[in-house]
This record gives sequence, C-alpha cells and structure tokens, in this order.
Amino acid sequence: MKSSDLDVLIVGAGAAGMMCAIEAGKRGRRVRVIDHARAPGEKIRISGGGRCNFTNLGTSGANFLSENPRFALSALKRFTQHDFLKMVERHGIAWHEKTLGQLFCDDSAKQIIRMLTDEMKAAGVTLSLGLGVTSIARSGDRFEVALDDGTRVSAASLVVATGGKSIPKMGATGWGYDVARQFDLRLTETRPALVPLTFEPTLLEQLVPLAGVAVDAVVKTTPTNPKGERLKDVSFTEAMLFTHRGLSGPSILQISSYWREGEAITVNMAPSEDVSARMLAAKTENGKQAVHTALGHIIPRRLAEVICAREGLAGKLAEVGDKKLRALDQAVNAWTVKPVGSEGYRTAEVTLGGVDTAALDQQTMEAKTVPGLFFIGEVVDVTGWLGGYNFQWAWSSGWAAGQNC
Ligand code: FDA
Repeated sequence: MKSSDLDVLIVGAGAAGMMCAIEAGKRGRRVRVIDHARAPGEKIRISGGGRCNFTNLGTSGANFLSENPRFALSALKRFTQHDFLKMVERHGIAWHEKTLGQLFCDDSAKQIIRMLTDEMKAAGVTLSLGLGVTSIARSGDRFEVALDDGTRVSAASLVVATGGKSIPKMGATGWGYDVARQFDLRLTETRPALVPLTFEPTLLEQLVPLAGVAVDAVVKTTPTNPKGERLKDVSFTEAMLFTHRGLSGPSILQISSYWREGEAITVNMAPSEDVSARMLAAKTENGKQAVHTALGHIIPRRLAEVICAREGLAGKLAEVGDKKLRALDQAVNAWTVKPVGSEGYRTAEVTLGGVDTAALDQQTMEAKTVPGLFFIGEVVDVTGWLGGYNFQWAWSSGWAAGQNC
C-alpha cells in the first residue's frame, strides 16, 4: 500500500479547511486537503443566494452561540472581518453591503472559491477531491490515515474541517464528531439551527392561505440553558415569511437557534404601529369599513383577513365593540405561537453545538489532550447568527489553526 508523509492533512475543503491550508502552506508546511465532494467549497457556492454573504462588518462575540461564548473571541480578534475583506479586495472581487453589515459579492460566490483555491495553489497546497478517510490511527506523535482510494498518509497534524450535519444532500456527514469521539473529546448537543420552524396541523390549516406573505417583524423567545433555567429574552427584527409548513425568513431563522421544542415565540407583525389606536381611529373616521379592510391598511391584506377570521371579527368596524378591536393588538403586536419543530438538517443553514470548546485551545484550535489534532469551523461548538458570521468563524478559526498546525 502506498504511503506518503505530510506535515498537515486537512479533511474538508470548505471555508475553514481552505483558509487553514492557505495559512499553513504559507508557513512552508507540506499541506494536503482532501474532500469527498467533487468540488471544493460547495456551501460557499450556494451561500447568500449565490453571492455569498462572506462576512459581517459588525462581527463581535455577541453574534455567536456556544456553551462558552468567550471561546471564539481570540480567533475572531486575530483574523477579523476586515482582514478577510482585505483578501477579497486584493483579489479584485467587487462587493457590497446589503443590510446590517452583511457583505456580499456583487457577482458570484464562485469568486470566493476561486480566491481560496488560487491562494492554496500559491501556497503549494495539494487538493484532492472525491476522497474520504477510512480510518485514523495515532502512531507516536503522528497520525496514520487510511484513505478510501487505498492509500495511506502519515501526518504530523490532522485538521478536522468537515462542517456540521446541515444539508446532507450536499455531503454533510457529521464525520468530524466521530473523530472527536474516537479521541475521547466531549461533544455538546447538536441540533439544526438557522432553520424554518413548523406548525401543528390544525394551526397550519388556518395559516396555509398565508404562504408567501412576508412582514417585517420582531420575533422574541425566552431561551433556557441546558439546565432548564430561563435566560434573558432574545429578539430579532427582520423579515418573516409564512410558508406551507410554518414560518421562515431571517427573523425566524435567527430565533430558531435559541428556540427549543415546547417553547413559544412571540411575534410583533407591525412593530412600528399601535394597532388598537389605529383601529379605533379608523372606526371613528369610517365605521362602514370592514374590519379586515381597516387592518389591511396596517399589515398585508391576506394576513389581515386570516387574523380577523381567527379572532371572529367579521363585519364593519361600527358593528364591533372597542374591546374586541383592542384585542387585535395582541393578535398583531404580540402573537404568541408554539412551533412544533423545525424543518431539520434538510434545510438548516448550520448545526448548533459540536466539539466542546473546553477540549480545544482557543488560540490554536488544537485538542488539549491530543497534540496535532485540530478542529475548525462549523464542527466546533461555535455557531453564528445569520448574516455572514458563520463564514467569519470559519475564516478566523481556520486562520488560527493555520498558524499552528
Ligand atoms: P463546510 O460545510 O463548508 O465544509 C466542510 C467540507 O467537508 C465540505 O466540503 C464537505 O464535503 C467535507 N466533508 C464532510 N465530511 C467529509 C468526510 N467524511 N470526508 C471528506 N470530506 C468531508 N454562512 C454565512 O456566513 N453566510 C452565508 O451567506 C451563508 N449561507 C448559507 C447558505 C446555505 C444554504 C447553507 C447550508 C449554509 C450557509 N451558511 C452561510 C453557513 C456556512 O455555509 C457554514 O457555516 C460554513 O460553510 C462552514 O464552513 P466549514 O468549512 O466549517 O464547513
């Protein structure tokens, strides 16, 4: 059986793995990156609607979830959003800020992949695609890795950059968690995050006519910690979309990372409106107007119709008591709903949880008990909000490991 010697074997040619390879290669390390996919950076390619929301100008520790929220800070501070932006500009990639500090390519996410593969080439990195790992063994202070083409690799450093479980159709396997288990590293609970939430059938039936309706909303939940203790309220103000299964849109994807089964979310579907005041004023001005027509001046018409039907508010404003009109406040500004679940890994943008940060050195991403073994990117228990934060974590953690592997 053929065997080759390497300084660094990186498994996973995604955002984190490629960044790590570039940095290690620049240090003169002999680096090989393998990936079982046929192309590198497949998630980059489909990200941000094909334009890749590659970072966020406002990145700070506050935008990440982890059992140890301070863990990510070191890497995020040493390779920042501005550092990544400089790289993008050096490669002449045109970009724009869409909203809330989110930076996108003007043209195509493929430019980011090209940038990374060009940098890897310049740093002398070997990239092998369509190749997976059969087994890993420790031999002295090296890793003996059997690959599924029948060859073997001996490497001083092994970097696990295989991402999480989201979008199995694209090759996500959770394999990195198996490696952590093999080396007795603890995993935190993993679950789909940045994912649409679903409703139980009766509610769904009532809300299905709303599929496709979008509103700007404030969505709030009260998260609990692993011990079941209630934490501070978390809320997001962004668009929300009704779907055939439940709710989606940025505000829902964001809250999904904090929501747990059995918990409610509260939705304000007209955050800048005092609904009861507007409805009472409408009644005074034109009592002949249908209730749903008046409400349809505040929120989308279809949504107004469904809410009025659910609240039993048929007929004209003049025929409805003030108390009932005031109750619309609750239905629009503080709609409390219990999703039954999420759409799961099939559509989740990321996996929450992963390799316990307590097992890793926050400067280097190296396992404290296994010298030479590194975990970077989404496989680690660090999960960003929607808006370019997850890629920034991949770049920063990949960069940090690249200085040390
Ligand atoms: P990533 O998943 O990118 O790469 C892992 C690599 O490992 C893959 O190439 C995979 O094929 C390979 N691999 C897995 N198992 C393997 C095995 N056993 N053997 C060999 N190779 C293996 N984030 C953001 O900041 N901005 C955005 O715009 C978006 N948009 C977005 C859209 C969609 C649809 C999704 C699903 C996700 C996003 N994200 C995002 C999240 C972002 O894509 C994600 O956080 C990063 O890609 C994580 O980077 P990693 O390098 O850690 O894993």
